[in-house]
Amino acid sequence: MSPAGHAPLVLLISGPNLGLLGSRQPEIYGTSTLDDHVEVARAAGSASGMAIEHIHSDHEGTIVEAVHAARGRAAAIVVNAGALTHYSWALHDALAAFDGPVVELHLSNPGAREGWRHRSVVTPVATAVIAGVGGAGYRLAVDAVAALLSGRD
Ligand code: DQA
Repeated sequence: MSPAGHAPLVLLISGPNLGLLGSRQPEIYGTSTLDDHVEVARAAGSASGMAIEHIHSDHEGTIVEAVHAARGRAAAIVVNAGALTHYSWALHDALAAFDGPVVELHLSNPGAREGWRHRSVVTPVATAVIAGVGGAGYRLAVDAVAALLSGRD
């Protein structure tokens, strides 16, 4: 997964509309920006000896290609796929072809919102799901990766 002596790489993926965080429906998503969340993830990663690589895109294909590129290179993936969560079978299939742990992350709890958000096509190929904790979820997701990679219970 990671070359000897290098920190394991965790790919953090941010899907459509997450670039608007900070001003987008703050009553649901909070006032922190995506950069703020990535900072939190990086700090949690370095505390556990892991490097975080972040990609944000509003385009499904770009995200699918990022998952492909992570194969054999990243030890784990943390993915907040935005609305792609609810319909992107292409992302589902790409994640199914990734070998390491996948942590699905949401700021809000989609299961407690509109009916169309209740189905996640990411969950069936995720190792763990963190939702509804707001920005703290970014730290929890990276901590979850560290626990999953350590193999300890
Ligand atoms: C989200 C939840 C999704 O339903 C929504 O489409 C998003 C953000 C979250 O982080 O709460 O864009 O993934």
